[in-house]
Parts: sequence; structure tokens; C-alpha cells
Amino acid sequence: MTSAGAPIFTTSRLQGKVVVITGASGGIGRSAAILFARAGANVVLSARRKDALEEVESACKQAYKAQGEQIAGTKGGKTASIVTDMRDRKSIDGLLTNLPDWAQGKTDILISNAGLVRGREHVGDINPDEIDEVLETNVRGFIHVNQLFVKEFKKRNAGHIVAIGSIAGREAYPGGSIYCASKFAVAAFTSSLLKELVNTQIRVTEIQPGMVETNFSVTRFRGDQAQADKEYTGLTPLTPDDIAEDIVFACSRPDHVQVAQSLIFPVNQASPYHNFRGGSK
Ligand SMILES: NC(=O)c1ccc[n+]([C@@H]2O[C@H](COP(=O)([O-])OP(=O)(O)OC[C@H]3O[C@@H](n4cnc5c(N)ncnc54)[C@H](OP(=O)(O)O)[C@@H]3O)[C@@H](O)[C@H]2O)c1
Repeated sequence: MTSAGAPIFTTSRLQGKVVVITGASGGIGRSAAILFARAGANVVLSARRKDALEEVESACKQAYKAQGEQIAGTKGGKTASIVTDMRDRKSIDGLLTNLPDWAQGKTDILISNAGLVRGREHVGDINPDEIDEVLETNVRGFIHVNQLFVKEFKKRNAGHIVAIGSIAGREAYPGGSIYCASKFAVAAFTSSLLKELVNTQIRVTEIQPGMVETNFSVTRFRGDQAQADKEYTGLTPLTPDDIAEDIVFACSRPDHVQVAQSLIFPVNQASPYHNFRGGSK
């Protein structure tokens, strides 16, 4: 059947959908929330920082309103925030039980994005508390939140899990042992899930970004902005909006289409350690 005349790339399929986003208080999660709102979806935001979540909620409301008549009457535009600590299993349980009425049992998409990195120390010199912090957030918390929502999605035989992995989950680099281990775990978990759900209508996507300029490197260098900035010297990194576009693209495909994986780099990056730094930044 020909689809001549149909729009080449539409996000209209997201109108009225319910999207839950972890790590929505900044960076990639924040950009994704705003782009989903622009597309006419309803968003539930989760992270630890309440004030930052409130700012994102208001940015989402503005983004939805700015679309005006394009998405009027689509039952979208609703927002809610749930303060969640991904290191605390009970707190993660609250993400499901504290959903507003309009999202209870109606979540269409989970964006499993909360995560962090600490330091560049080599094995032998890594702070054990930071090992716990990274693994509890990026692996244990990630697995727990996915389990909760997969269980929900199975009841309805519908839904979409989007995991934010990393190039660090495909290629390990020196000084990245713990973070890389955590993102290899994300890739393995997501790959198993994809296969487990093959006989359902539930979709699974893993997005694997390269260098994205967010608060990520500031966290890595424990608040040292100057050191974080050096990470991007001589090249133009991805922006969180670039990754949000990739996420929204994957989620707005027709129901029978599953974007299983997406590896996305800045133009001057080809792996964690193959970068061309003669660029513009
Ligand atoms: N930036 C990159 O270069 C890059 C590349 C590949 C993959 N990624 C991945 O992309 C995801 C988002 O990172 P980003 O770049 O957007 O970094 P970011 O700006 O630092 O955002 C990280 C988000 O995770 C949340 N978070 C961290 N620890 C948490 C916890 N214990 N409980 C709940 N939420 C927590 C933070 O919220 P609160 O602090 O408010 O809790 C924040 O919203 C991560 O999984 C990261 O590994 C990033």
C-alpha cells in the first residue's frame, strides 16, 4: 500500500500518551519531557530534586501551550512530578503507586534515563562509596523500575520501555570501569528484555549516546565545571535536545515498528576514545 501524501515523519502518534521519565530534572530527561509535551503527550517526571522537577513541569506546560491549535483537544498537556531516589527500592515503588489518576494503569512509555558517572580513577583507586552509588543507581535502580513497568505493561499487552544506555555500554575505556560495567549491564538487561517480550506488543528500545553536554561531566568531576568543560574541548558535543529527538523518534513510530537500538555520536566522535578535536568548540 502506498503512503504517498502522508507526512514523512510525524510525532502525532504521541498525542494523549502517558510518558514516565526517570532522571527528568535535568539534561536528557528534561529535554525529552519538553519534547514529549510539545508532541501532545502527558508527562510524569521523576528525580530527587523537587525544585528542578517543578521547573521542568512548567517548561513542559509552556511547550504544550506553544503548540496551540496543532494539538488542541488531544487530551495531552498534563504533568506531574514524583520525587524518587533510584538508590532506594521503596522510593522507586512509589513511582508506580503515586502516579496521578490520569496515569494509573495507563502509562504508555517508560523512559529509563536516571544515571550518573563518578571520576576517572583506575581500578585499585576507586572510592567504594562511588562504586555503590553508580551501580545502585545505573543498575539496581534501573532494573527495579523496569521490572515494575514491564509487569504493568504485560497486564495490558502494550507499552514501550526506552532505556538510556551509552557508547560506554558497547566499548569500555580506561578510567571508566564502573560506569562501563553499569552501561554494559543496561545493554544486557535491555537485550534480554527485547527477546523475552518478542511474543507481545510491548516495545523495547535502547538509546546509546556518545558525548552529550549536560551536567553529566560536572557530576563525574564532582562539581568541577572547568574540568567538565575540558571534556568537550575542540569538538561540538551532542546536546540533550539531540538525544530527546532520537527518543521521541523511536516512540512515535507506528505500533508495529520497534527501534531496538540507536547509537548516536557527535560528528567528530567514533568511539569513547576516537575523537577528532580540531572542531569548533
Ligand atoms: N551526557 C552524556 O555524555 C551521556 C552519554 C551517554 C549516556 N548518558 C546517560 O544519559 C542519562 C542521563 O544523563 P544526563 O547526561 O542527562 O546527565 P544529568 O544532566 O546529570 O542528568 C542525570 C539525571 O539523573 C538523575 N539522577 C541521578 N541520580 C539519581 C538518583 N539516585 N535517583 C533519581 N534520579 C537520579 C538526576 O536527577 P536528580 O539529581 O534530581 O536526582 C538527573 O535528572 C544517564 O543514564 C547517563 O548515563 C549520558
